[in-house]
Formats: sequence, C-alpha cells, structure tokens
Amino acid sequence: GIHKLWGGRFRAGEEDLMEQFNNNFKDTHWLCDPDIEGSLAHVAMQVECGLLTEGEGAQLTEGLLGIQADVHSGALPLDDRYEDVHTFVEANLIDRLGEVGKKLHTARSRNDQVNTDMKLYVKRETAHVVELVEAFLQTLRKKADENPYIMPGYTHLQRAQVVTFKYHLMAYHGMLQRDRHRLQSALENMDLSPLGCGALAGTTHPIDRAFTAEKLGFAGVYDNFMDGVSDRDYQLEVLAAFSILMMHLSRLAEEMILWGTQEFGFVTLDDRYTTGSSIMPQKKNSDGAELIRGKTGRVYGDLLALLTVMKGLPLAYNKDMQEDKDLFHDGLETVLLSLTMMERMVATLTVHPEKMRRAVSKGFLNATEVADYLVAKGVPFRDAHGIVGQIVLYCEDRQTSIEELTLSELKQFCPAIEEDIYPYIDYENILHKGIKKEML
Ligand code: ARG
Repeated sequence: GIHKLWGGRFRAGEEDLMEQFNNNFKDTHWLCDPDIEGSLAHVAMQVECGLLTEGEGAQLTEGLLGIQADVHSGALPLDDRYEDVHTFVEANLIDRLGEVGKKLHTARSRNDQVNTDMKLYVKRETAHVVELVEAFLQTLRKKADENPYIMPGYTHLQRAQVVTFKYHLMAYHGMLQRDRHRLQSALENMDLSPLGCGALAGTTHPIDRAFTAEKLGFAGVYDNFMDGVSDRDYQLEVLAAFSILMMHLSRLAEEMILWGTQEFGFVTLDDRYTTGSSIMPQKKNSDGAELIRGKTGRVYGDLLALLTVMKGLPLAYNKDMQEDKDLFHDGLETVLLSLTMMERMVATLTVHPEKMRRAVSKGFLNATEVADYLVAKGVPFRDAHGIVGQIVLYCEDRQTSIEELTLSELKQFCPAIEEDIYPYIDYENILHKGIKKEML
C-alpha cells in the first residue's frame, strides 16, 4: 500500500473501508501550503537547537520548497490515497531526499502539527474575510450616499415612519462593522502557536517553541501543551462570527427579495444576479439573494456541528477533531462566496425613489409626527396619541390621508391644531426636525 507514518506495531493493515473512513487528504488539499510552511519553521528551529545540522536543514528546506512548487505547478499529483496532508508531504520528502527526509518529524506530532496548519489557514483566511467585509462596507456607504431618498420604514413589516433608503442601508453598515470587529478580536484571541506541544506532553528535546511561533507570525505560544493540541476554540469563534455575519447578509438578502417584488417595487436586482424559469417566460427570480439566505443555514450548521463534535471530548487529541477541517472550510467558502455576491448585488442594485415616495404617502407614516405636533402645542402625549388615532380612523373611512384634511376638519379633533401643522407633518420635512436630522 501507500506510505503511512505508522505501522510498526501492527500485524494487519487497515481494512479498505477503515482506510476510506479515516483518510482525509482528499478534503484537505488546501492545507498543503500551511503544512509546508509549518514544516519549514520546524526545520529552521531544529537547526537552531542542534537537532539537525545546517546541511540537513538546507536539504530539508529545499525538499519542502520543491514539493510546494510542484504542488502549485501540478507536477506533483495530489494522490488521495495518502492518509492526510502530513503523510503526503512527509512521504514525498522521503521519496525525494531519502534518509534525511526521515528526520523532519523529530520533536513533533501530527497533533501539534495539524493544529498549527489549521491556525495558519484560519488566520490567513479570516484576514481575507475581513478585507471582503471592508470592501462591502465601502460599497454599502457608496450606495447609501447615492440614494438619500425617503422610503417607508417598517415595524412588523407594517409601514411605520419615514426613513431614507440611505439610512436603511447604513443600518447594515453598522452590523458589518461589528462583524469586522468580531473577526478581528477572534484573530487576536487565536494568536498562539501550537507547534512544539507535541502529541500532548511536549518533548524531551530542548526545542524552542518561541522560535517557531515567531517564524510563523504568532504572537506567542500556549502555556499548556494539552490545551495547545486540543484547542479548537479559534475555529468556533470564527464560525460564530461567520454565523452572525451571514445572519446579517441573510436579512439584507431577504429585504432585497422583498423590495424587488412587484408588490414593493423599490429596487431592481441586476440581471446578472437573477435567473429565469423553465416554464414561466416572464420570470426573473432573485436567486442570488435567495442563495445567500439559504446558505446562511449551512454556516450555522457548520458551527453547530463543530460545537457538537467538541462537547464531549476528553483531553487531549481525539480523532473526532479531524472533522473540524471540512466544517471550517465549508463555512469559510460559503462566507467568501456570499460576501462577494452580496457586495456585487448591492453595487449593481437599481433603486426606484418614486416607488418608495408613493409608498410613503399611504399608511399614515406621519401619524407619530402629528402626535409630536400636538405635544408641541401643549397636549400631553397620551392624549395626543388618542386624538391622532381618531384622526386616522376618520381618514381610513374616507380613504384619505392626514395631510389632505382641511384645517377645520382637523380642528374638530383638537382646537390647538393650526395651519403650521402642514409643514410639520410633511414627509420631506419630517427628517429635518429634532434628532431625525441624524438620519440625513
Ligand atoms: N489527520 C489528522 C487530523 O486532521 C491529523 C492528526 C492525526 N493525529 C493522530 N494522532 N492520528 O486531525
């Protein structure tokens, strides 16, 4: 069979099914780079600490870099019969270098190695997500600034008060700023190197964990070896931050779907992010947004699955933890795609101010401001609320709006009402009063 990193104490090999069940190289090709990076640091450290001669170190380094180059060029096929990425790299190193290749794994276990690989990967990719969040924040702000138009604001999905499209989008800007902060603090919290923790109990060799940590760009090392090999908190923190971020994207996706319906008509999604129907020729469906909403479920699932994998594990490493790779990777890929899609959909969105303006004028979106007006005239708010309720009923019966009533009609409800009520409750004017100015 193909090279294994173990076998000395076995009389029989694995059953095929066991091998398939256990191997995970085919799902972790993306760990090749971080694995080689970790090994390069480990080799440098071994030279530094006298575990390898300079010459051996140079050979191993060259061998590892050669494997990396050949993986990138495609010259070295990623043979999925290897048990995992560590086996793949080490076996190829031994193929290339012979005896000296067998010295790579001194003072290291796959347990500290794999967690180091994942840390490097999670750090790099999380930083990439932060960049995409930043790009999306800019797009949100730009789209908001371009669309200062008034629109209905909703509670319970019932028309409530006047807001602007700009202000509505900027609510998402606030959410995404928190997402960025959550990802950045996860990055800070995870910045310890597992390399050198060994299988669970360090090593008898006088290695230098701080050396590899620094070489790999970590701020420090774990205090406790057992914690270092079995910590998956960092993946959970990032998946939790991803889940909240996806929840935000999903809410925006839902609004884009809703606003794009004929019933709303506030926006038109660009053709590039929509698809048609195989039977109904007229259809243009908001599939891009729907998929973001749907894929949010996947990311929640990845988080919940990993939490569940970890919840009953005794210290230190257990093979259950191998499941982290697929789960984190799936969550990450989903977030990368969804963020990119959403950024493009927002950037290319067409907004229809006249449709939103028409919606503003139906549904008594200035009723609260009528009550505010009465309060300004000395009416206690609770009384004002009751009076405006009566006015709304009166208007509903006549299918009209408050600003369309004459002053004498209005005075029947409250003698304090004067001519100056009309500018006060004018939809365009409302946002220029009091702290509502902040919304402009
Ligand atoms: N393939 C394993 C994983 O992904 C690497 C660590 C294996 N360690 C072990 N003792 N079998 O978690």
